Parts: sequence; C-alpha cells; structure tokens
Amino acid sequence: MSDIRSTYTDSCGFYGCHTPHELAETWGTPLYVYNEAILRRCCRDLKALSSHPNFGVNYSVKANANPSLLRIIRDEGLVVDAMSPGELYMDELAGFKQDEILYISNNNSEEELRHAVAHSHLVSVDSLAQLDALGRVSPGGKVMVRFNPGIGAGHHAKVVTAGKATKFGVIPEDLNDVLKLLSQHDLVLAGVNQHIGSLFMEAEGYLAAANVLLALVERLPHHMLQQLEIIDFGGGFGIPYHKYDQEPRLDMAALGANLHARITSWAEQHSYTGRFLVEPGRYVVAECGILLGHVHAVKNNCDKRYVGTDLGFNVLVRPVMYDAFHDVEIYGAQHTSERQALRQTIVGNICESGDILAKDRLLPTMEAGDILAILDAGAYGFTMSSNYNQRRRPAEVLIGLDGTARCIRRRETLDDLASCITSL
Ligand code: LLP
Repeated sequence: MSDIRSTYTDSCGFYGCHTPHELAETWGTPLYVYNEAILRRCCRDLKALSSHPNFGVNYSVKANANPSLLRIIRDEGLVVDAMSPGELYMDELAGFKQDEILYISNNNSEEELRHAVAHSHLVSVDSLAQLDALGRVSPGGKVMVRFNPGIGAGHHAKVVTAGKATKFGVIPEDLNDVLKLLSQHDLVLAGVNQHIGSLFMEAEGYLAAANVLLALVERLPHHMLQQLEIIDFGGGFGIPYHKYDQEPRLDMAALGANLHARITSWAEQHSYTGRFLVEPGRYVVAECGILLGHVHAVKNNCDKRYVGTDLGFNVLVRPVMYDAFHDVEIYGAQHTSERQALRQTIVGNICESGDILAKDRLLPTMEAGDILAILDAGAYGFTMSSNYNQRRRPAEVLIGLDGTARCIRRRETLDDLASCITSL
C-alpha cells in the first residue's frame, strides 16, 4: 500500500482512472489537477440556492481563469465576471458572450473602462471618481455601482472587502453624489453590486449585507428602481479546508432558503423584474483542484523536521500570504509500511524563510520521493502563482467525467521566461 494518507481523495475518486503517481510521472510536478465532476457539483450547489426565475450565479474568475474550467462552468449555466482586460480575454476564450460577462472594476484606467464597456454587459464602478470616468467614457450609457454595505467578512483581514477598513465600494452615505453624477453624464443605473469579503462559513453576515443593499435600492427614485437590471450580492461562500478534521460545510440549504424567501418577497413588493446574482469564486473551484508535488529532501534543523518540496510559494501563495490552511495527503514512492506520526513543517524551494506551506503538522513521517497532494487548491492557486526565483508556472490537468486526464495548460518553458525580454 503506497498511499499513506489518502482517504479523502479515495472517497471521492478524485483521480478518476489514474493514480497520482501516474499523473506526476506524465506531467511532472508541481502539477494542478482538477476534477470535472466536483466542479460541476459545486456549480449546481450554487444554482440550487434559489429557484427564483431571475436568480443566477456570476462566477468570479479571479479564483481560477483556466478557459477549460470556464467552459464547464458556462455549460452549467453560470455567467462570469472580469476585473481586468486579461480576465475578459479568458472569459471570451472560453466562449462567454458579451451579455454573459459583468466587469467588476477597481481603479481602472479610462482606456480599460472603454475596453470593458465594449466587451461586457455592464461595468461596475466602485468610487465616485470611477463613476465620473465611466461617464466620460460612455456618456448616456449604462452603469453598475458597487456599494459598501458596512458589513465585512473573511478568513483574513486582507480579504475583508466591506466595512470601514477597505478601499472598495461607494458608501451608502454618498448615494446623492452618485445620483448627481448619473444625471450629469446621463447614465442609466442598470445594476448595483457588493462583495463583503472572502470565505464565510455562517450565512448571517451575508444575508444582513444583502438586506442593506436591498434597503439602499429602496432609496432610489421609483423610475430608477424600475430601470434596474441586476442586484448582485457578491461572493465569499466558504468551503471546509480542514477535510481530515471533518470541518462542517457551509449550510447552503439554510442560506438558500433564506435568500430565496427574501428575494422572492422583495421582488414582488417592489415589482422588480431584474436579475438577482451571487458572485462566488472560491466555492465554484476550490474543491475541484489539488496541487501535487514531490518531497525532495528532509532534514532536522534544531528540533524541527523540515520536509523540502517543489511546492514553493510561487506555486501556491495562500499559506504564506494569509496563513491559510490546506490539508495534505501523502503518497509513498513504493510499498511502505505504517509510518509514525510526527510534527513536520512542509516547505518549498524558494529562497525565503517564509516559504512554508504547512507548519508543525502532525502527519505520517514524510520521506524523500513521496508525492504530496495539497487539497482544495483550485481557487486562488494557479491564478496567484508567479515566476519568483524564475521558477516556471506549473501545468494543469483535468480529470474528465469519464475519469481520464488531459492537459489543459502546459508547464512553462525556460523560453517562456524570456519571452518578454526585448533586448540584451
Ligand atoms: N466578487 C468580488 C468583487 C471579489 O473581489 C471577489 C474576491 C469575489 C467576488 C469572489 O470571492 P470568493 O467567493 O472567491 O470569496 N486570494 C484570496 C481571496 C481574495 C478574494 C478577492 N475577491 C484567498 O486566496 O483566500
């Protein structure tokens, strides 16, 4: 038995008809591996939040922008956002049409706003200054405004995007200034949106913030409420990262029941015929992705056992950036007997002491040659990877519904690293 810790992936058949050893052998490591069945299931969980005919799910592609995954997400009936020309480009590559893309901007140049107007259904701006800029770029056009409901959430201060300490959104107190700018540029307010932050496991804050946004819409002049096409409550839906501790899931049924009841009665009360959207990123893609790596060297420095891998923070930055926890599976190189559990620290190959993937974890003893799987790496994994230390970004592989693997992004080459160099 070479799988030393694998009950989670065994239980969901994550690798289809392959073994992680085969995948690592064929495509090398570090390697992102995605499972289509899990991706589709997560899309369906979100769509099931409400059966209101105008309810929809707007996938936030910042979490994972691989066009092969985006195609599956489109096939499941989700629309997408973009917040940069690059994300727009990926959305389009995957086949999303202009009316299926919302551009949720933050501090864009006028040129970028102009591009976004031409390529997306609506552009959301999140400051008075950007509303003014959009008015200059697209006088007489439609616009969406992002508000800050004053309620934030998130797994780390760096990902709380509403409340007092954030750069995002227009505060409700500035509504009159919004109205002035709209009329000055003859803009139609076609949508409102918000995003309170990333990763909540209890629904209360999200639902409270949704109520704040609805109350704000009620303050709009009647004719403006009638023109509104989209009310987007944002994302932030959490997933259980502590898979081996049986961390409970976010109660989607309860969240959905509440949200559905609220939007249904609110739409009736206000004769609103536009769409209601949620805008999740992580929930859609986190659990369908695993990062595979190799253990290259193990050592004891003073009292600590360091497990040295090829999984530097250039490949997965979340643990370093937010102290984020990802569970780990261990697959032995050959037939292995029981391994004793020890406190170990898993580190990468980057020249910084902070290059730590997992700190002081009590795990079966890891040895050189083992393959490690970092679970729940599908969201903010590849999209936040970098070429630091001139390491090449990894390949990505998709396990399809028939259980077979295909490569959906090749590993970068050394030539790729030099591809933008213009002179020597
Ligand atoms: N909408 C907007 C406007 C956002 O800024 C975000 C995420 C989302 C939707 C999707 O949020 P989600 O459902 O994924 O929580 N890199 C961090 C997360 C940063 C999220 C930034 N904004 C992490 O790895 O935890």
